Amino acid sequence: MVKSTCRSIFEASLNMTRVVSGIRPTGKLHLGNYFGAVKSFLKMQEEHECYFFIADIHSLTTHPTPSDLHSNVKQVLAEHLAMGVNPEKCALFVQSDVPAISELYTYMNMNAYIGELERSTSFKDKIRSQKDNINAGLLTYPVLMAVDILAHHADVVPVGKDQQQHLEMTRTFANRFNHMYQTDYFKEPQAYSNTGKLIKVPGLTAQGKMSKSSGDTDTLIFDEDEKVTRKKIMRAVTDNGPSEPGMPKSEGLQNLFDIMELVSDQSTIQYFDNLHQEATIRYGDLKKQLADDVVKFIEPIRAKISHFKQDTHALQKAARIGAEKANESASKTLKEVREIIGFKQF
Ligand code: ADP
Ligand code: TRP
Repeated sequence: MVKSTCRSIFEASLNMTRVVSGIRPTGKLHLGNYFGAVKSFLKMQEEHECYFFIADIHSLTTHPTPSDLHSNVKQVLAEHLAMGVNPEKCALFVQSDVPAISELYTYMNMNAYIGELERSTSFKDKIRSQKDNINAGLLTYPVLMAVDILAHHADVVPVGKDQQQHLEMTRTFANRFNHMYQTDYFKEPQAYSNTGKLIKVPGLTAQGKMSKSSGDTDTLIFDEDEKVTRKKIMRAVTDNGPSEPGMPKSEGLQNLFDIMELVSDQSTIQYFDNLHQEATIRYGDLKKQLADDVVKFIEPIRAKISHFKQDTHALQKAARIGAEKANESASKTLKEVREIIGFKQF
């Protein structure tokens, strides 16, 4: 089902104009969010028309309390600003501030079929992980995500590898709408990464991708005490060590090398790789080095997060300007979609 999904940087830079991406406010941001998504945002906002948002409507599938919802939105907004997302250069907004999205979602739900929604990998995962809360919002999650993207006529969507299938579904819904109404109104958006290849940052417990919901010991979080970050890395899952030269790396060890690729110098990675090849590596040394490099990378951003969390004025201003820009674009789409569908005034 998953077809070509990530344009090369060159190809994309030729004809890309509009960029959309969202992050759910379901916890503090981690290295996966940064390297999978936010790093691309920083590059894209310099040259393109960008819409980046806090996907608070999406997060309602997890049933947050009103106060948790609000503090999580604030947290993630502050984290965007701290990481360098610039509200002057892009539309940085909160999804629920754009009512046109919810109306478009209603319309788009009519041409999404139960069978395809049930087959989505993310839905199947949720059925397994939250058995006591399989709500309708989970089933139609890909429709809401498609609307987020199509409302601004995105050409590209910077996301991590886990979102590939959602992008494919977005293209399906866009094409189906076009076909149903004999129009070429919606274009096909593509997933994008600043590296030219969609990224999956692994977690520390060798269970899969690093995720806000994959557990405390698995995730390297920006807004967290340095000591906690170090402890998590020192306790990361590895193996008993290579018993002879040239052995392949275990999954847990490979994950540590993958994270090193993101934050360490090439010479450091080469050094530990050689030690592994020779079977003289000491995992304690590798972890200590990785902890130093992760902390060096995270620390300046963490300091800025603390600053922005206190700066209510900057948060309010960013969200207000962002909502204005996003509302303008999404309302136009909503008006046009209503006309295409056949809602006409008497
Ligand atoms: P999470 O899975 O941690 O809850 P979200 O679902 O809100 O994060 O994802 C926000 C963005 O971050 C998406 O573009 C997603 O693809 C990206 N992302 C999340 N985790 C990773 C990861 N481990 N590696 C790469 N990208 C990731
Ligand atoms: N589904 C995305 C995730 O879980 C978040 C998201 C919602 C999104 N709407 C989007 C990402 C639109 C890109 C574009 O990570």
